[in-house]
Amino acid sequence: MKDFLDWAKPGSPTAALAARVDPNRLPRHIAIIMDGNGRWARRRLLPRVAGHRAGVESVRSVIEASARLGLDALTLYAFSVENWKRPRGEVDTLWNLLLRYLVEELPRLHRYNIRFQAIGRLHELPQAVREGLDHATEKTAGNTGLRLNLALNYGGRTEIVDAVNRLLEQARALGPGFQVDEEILSDHLYTSGLPDPDLLIRTSGEVRISNFLLWQIAYTEIWVTPKLWPEFRADDLLEGILDYQGRERRFGGLSPQEEPAEPALVGAAVGERSDLGE
Ligand code: FPP
Repeated sequence: MKDFLDWAKPGSPTAALAARVDPNRLPRHIAIIMDGNGRWARRRLLPRVAGHRAGVESVRSVIEASARLGLDALTLYAFSVENWKRPRGEVDTLWNLLLRYLVEELPRLHRYNIRFQAIGRLHELPQAVREGLDHATEKTAGNTGLRLNLALNYGGRTEIVDAVNRLLEQARALGPGFQVDEEILSDHLYTSGLPDPDLLIRTSGEVRISNFLLWQIAYTEIWVTPKLWPEFRADDLLEGILDYQGRERRFGGLSPQEEPAEPALVGAAVGERSDLGE
């Protein structure tokens, strides 16, 4: 966070927003559904791919801001398992943009001490993309700052299916008695080792999850902004964080004001409360 405050121009809107952020209550992990590239382009009478090109600048800006803020993890939804339905030219442009991004940004990822990894069914990606991803992952493996996850050929349901299949293999090897709990299942997801996202941001005003991190967002706070992805910058990220910091997270429990001073007598309160898991 200090790095961010030093970096923001004094007197700028960014500095004013950053000054309102509580550095002790930052989300550890932010996930973003980057949406609205096509609409951004259409409004300018440009081809859809121009929206994706412009979206790369937002990707750069948000990654730098997240690293400077000192977040533990940032997960960006760049290509879903459903996105193969798009025209071939659009899909190819996305891979080319990604490859160029990986080459151009690697020095900067290093400078910000970012550890890069891709998540999704990576083995189904074109070979050049796999090689580019492997290269960036290996080169940044020793970095200790922000964990940057790029979700590519990603689907929340396929992620759970992949985890279950790996667990079934173990069950076959280990025989009867093998049981799965939430921790074991989490450890077999692509995001193993990362905290669940505290905040999920979606751009372009759509209020949908779109098959993203289905297991991991069980208690994630969701913030939707009408901004289209190519317009999204560090200031918007700060707005989302400020909104998050204004929320009360109860994880199914009670807020501190509602906590009874004395432990309730067993059975005495049956039927009084009906609010489940808020
Ligand atoms: C959603 O907008 C965006 C995508 C499916 C692709 C996201 C890709 C980028 C931001 C650029 C490349 C990324 C990297 C990491 C270099 P949409 O096309 O669905 O927009 P629409 O809903 O307005 O049509």
